Parts: sequence; structure tokens; C-alpha cells
Amino acid sequence: MTSNGVTRQAKPDPCSFIIFGATGDLTHRLVIPALYNLAAARLLPDDFCIVGIARNEMSDDAIRESLMAGLRKHATRPVDDGVAQHLLACVSCIQADPSEPESFDRMAKQLATLEEKRKTTGNRLFYLATPPAAFAPIGEQLGRVGLLREDNGYWRRLVIEKPFGTDLASAKALNADLLKVANEHQLYRIDHYLGKETVQNILVLRFANGMFEPIWNRNHIDHIQITVDEKLDVGRRGSFYDATGALRDMVPNHLFQLLSLVAMEPPARFDAHTVRSEKAAVLAAIQTQSQAEALRNSARGQYTSGSINGPIAGYRKTKDVEPDSNTETYVALKLAIDNWRWAGVPFYLRTGKALATKRTEVAIKFKQAPFAMFQDTPVDRLSQNYLVIGIEPAEGITLQFNTKVPGPSIAIDGVEMKFLYKDYFKAEPATGYETLLYDCMIGDNILFQRADSVEAGWQAVQPFLDAWKAAGNDGLEFYAAGSDGPAGSTALLEDDGRNWRKPS
Ligand SMILES: NC(=O)c1ccc[n+]([C@@H]2O[C@H](COP(=O)([O-])OP(=O)(O)OC[C@H]3O[C@@H](n4cnc5c(N)ncnc54)[C@H](OP(=O)(O)O)[C@@H]3O)[C@@H](O)[C@H]2O)c1
Repeated sequence: MTSNGVTRQAKPDPCSFIIFGATGDLTHRLVIPALYNLAAARLLPDDFCIVGIARNEMSDDAIRESLMAGLRKHATRPVDDGVAQHLLACVSCIQADPSEPESFDRMAKQLATLEEKRKTTGNRLFYLATPPAAFAPIGEQLGRVGLLREDNGYWRRLVIEKPFGTDLASAKALNADLLKVANEHQLYRIDHYLGKETVQNILVLRFANGMFEPIWNRNHIDHIQITVDEKLDVGRRGSFYDATGALRDMVPNHLFQLLSLVAMEPPARFDAHTVRSEKAAVLAAIQTQSQAEALRNSARGQYTSGSINGPIAGYRKTKDVEPDSNTETYVALKLAIDNWRWAGVPFYLRTGKALATKRTEVAIKFKQAPFAMFQDTPVDRLSQNYLVIGIEPAEGITLQFNTKVPGPSIAIDGVEMKFLYKDYFKAEPATGYETLLYDCMIGDNILFQRADSVEAGWQAVQPFLDAWKAAGNDGLEFYAAGSDGPAGSTALLEDDGRNWRKPS
């Protein structure tokens, strides 16, 4: 069941799925393969059309051919030709360029004709798979020609890819621009992390099991670690990455999505408004740090040459990266949440590129037993109690605890109780976009970011952006590609008498 009461097996209403940026990588690599998976599962509307919008004229056949090639390359399962042909027969191409307003008037007419032919009624989903600079101009043109107006009972939705702004001011400006042409309920700010089963499962783990919630607070939890480590280097994305960096690219969106699900208060109801309000509330409770505090509570690094399954060139040698760039490819932060549940519980977040291991996890470290009963015995150093929510590479949940080693003497060892999704549930390999696209079509926005959440996220990271800008190269550390990241990240926890959890 979804949060708006639609059964997940139900087909969405007839609709047009209109993609701006149809010639781009995201459309070919993720959107079309996800629509294919939905088609294979019979979860697309019976009356449906996909309209690719291109800035230059392109024939229907040319775009179909290009999308088919993309599907063959990026499909997550063997392509059934019948399903693929049926899906691609729904595709048309219309030319429109937001810098030429008259092209949108033309496009609106062509779309109406196509929709009549395809019997998609008047429901429309506009997917902006374009560079962020085009989000507001496209929204403005769609608004101007009336394509976002919800009339005659039809819905009109606008899906916006990340990054949503580059700082607090730009995120506010983008929200304001979009809210001039659409209402909040029409906006679907997508973060593909929320398409992952384990991420959605954080809510279920916390709120469908009575045993966790009583200990989910500062009385029992020592601290929380959120790790998103990547082995991949920046590769061919130098131009985008050098202007962005690890903090902007990952923290206000992916890492804060994980943080908000782990730290939010229990919602009174499982509906989009209530759940999103709790998520926004906890993000707004992240303590705003002064610039001096932000410098003290962060580490940033940039990778130099090293080795990960072969030699890796240093970041500054990457194509389209400035040779003296001080963009961070690694960030570690210490944050505090100002509310009764989390007062005094640090949240340590880290993410980086070109690291030794690929790992995404949330590790909840519980406090030590209150009485050191085993003091002065060979076992007075107990291993640590962690509950680990693993998201990548293996999706699952692990509980680390101490147990007695069999034998006559008292010897204690740390052991793990492990649940892996793949051992219990057989899921078809997917792109992670299927649930999100389906939810857009059925109008369930529980997994999408609301304007207040986005702004609260930027509010929390803004002091770090400002402090680093002022500090320039000062404080930027270097780490070898294939290592565990900069020394400052280790020190951030060691200074508090803690350590990052090692992969088990
Ligand atoms: N690729 C991914 O895996 C991924 C993952 C998460 C988020 N995203 C986000 O998705 C968006 C698209 O990324 P991408 O990797 O697909 O980029 P891309 O390969 O460069 O494709 C960009 C697309 O946008 C179109 N476009 C460029 N400028 C435009 C403008 N001013 N107005 C209208 N259309 C314009 C391009 O059309 P032309 O052919 O006319 O130039 C092209 O189809 C970005 O916001 C990115 O941050 C991408």
C-alpha cells in the first residue's frame, strides 16, 4: 500500500510522461530502463505516452532508436523485445527550447494533438532531466503556456532532479520560482536514494517494531555515523564536480535523507504530509554552527594519485578540473540536533570519492553497559554495540553484540546477527527509480522532498560552505586514492574518544 491508499499493484491513471532532457544520460541510463521495468511489471497506464522534448528537431524514429540503444545497454534485466517495442511505440519527440518561448506555445499545441490520439486524457507528468540551470526557465515556460494548470480534474506534476540549488539562497530562489507556476503538491523533488528498499525500510524498522523505539534516543544511543563511501573517482564529470564538491553533491540531499529518516519523530500517520513534516522538523533542528564551529567540526580532503584496481590519477589531473582546485572530494561533518531526543548525541557524516571501499550505511552506536561488571578480568574491553543499516553494497541490517566464547573461562567476543535482503526476498534487479516514477504517476509524494526540507538542509550546510570559502586552501587535506580518506576525518571522532566503524 502507498501512503495515499493506492494499492501498489494498481495501474496509474492514463497520463503523458514528458521528459525534458530526453537526449541526456539520465534519461537513457535510468529513466527509460525504469519505465521498461514498470512496463514489464504491468504497472504503466494502459493509455500512456512518453514525449521526449529536445532542443533540436529530432524525429520520433531517431529518439526511439536512441532510447532503445540506451535500454539495451543499461537495462537491469534481459530485455523482452515485445515489452520494449510496445514501450517505445509510445514515444514521440517534440522540439522545444526554454530560451525560445514561442517553441513552448508550439509544443503545447502538438502535445494536445498527441494526447488526443493517445487517449491520455489530460494528466501530465513533466520530468526535468536537464542541467539545473534549466529547471526554472522550463518551469516558467510551462506555467506561461498553461501546461501546469490543474483544471477539469486533471493532474499536472513537475519532477525535478537534484541538485536542488547550490546553497541556501539559490535553493530558496528556485523554490520561489517554481512555486510561482505550480503548487507544492505538484512538485516532486526527486532523490533517488529514497527509491532504495533499505532506505524506505528505515521507517519500517523504527516504527513497525516496538522494540527499537524505546531505546532510540540519547539515553541509549552514544552517537550515529552515516557513511557514503565511493570507490569511483570523478572520472569524466570534472566540470560538474569541480563547481560542486562532495558537500554540495551528497550531504544536503542523500546524507540528510538518511539522517532525517533515522532521527525524525514518529509520525502520527503514514501519509505524505505528516511524514514529510516530521522529516522537515528534524532537519530544521540541526544546530546552525558558527563558521569557527564549522571549521572545528569538519574535515575536507581531496584525493591525490593512488590505486584502486589499477592506477588512479590525482583529482587535480582530472579533465576539466582546475590544476590548483581546492574542491573537496571528501567531507566529514559532526552535527548536533537540538531536540529532546538527540541532545548531546553527535551525528557524524562522511562521504568521499576514490576510497578503498564502496559502502553506504547508517551505524547506530549504543552506549556501553552502565556497570563494568567484567572490570579487571581478561574481558574488560568489550567490543562495541552497533545496529548497522547497510544500504550498499549489501542491503540489510546487522546487530553487533557481545557473547561468551564457549569454554571454561570467561572470554567474550563481539559477534554479529545479520539480516540480508537477498536471503529473504527475491527482488528483480532494478534501477532504484521504479518506485519513484510509479509514485509520481499515482500522486504519492511521500518519498519526495518538500521545499521546507530542502531549505532546512541547505541552512545546516551553509556555515560549512561559508567557512571553507573563507579558508580557501587552509584546512584542505590530501589523501591517496584507494585509502580511507584524510587523517582529519579520523581525528574528528578520535578527539571525542570515538572511531569510525570498520567494515565487518
Ligand atoms: N546522469 C545521472 O546519473 C544523474 C543522476 C542523478 C541526477 N542527475 C541529474 O539529472 C540531470 C540531467 O543529467 P544528465 O546526466 O542526463 O545530463 P546530460 O547527459 O548532460 O543531459 C542533459 C540533457 O538536458 C538537455 N539540456 C541541456 N541544457 C538544456 C537547457 N538549457 N534547456 C533544456 N534542455 C537542456 C540536453 O539536451 P540537448 O541535447 O538539447 O543538449 C540533454 O538532453 C542533471 O540535473 C543531473 O544533475 C543525473
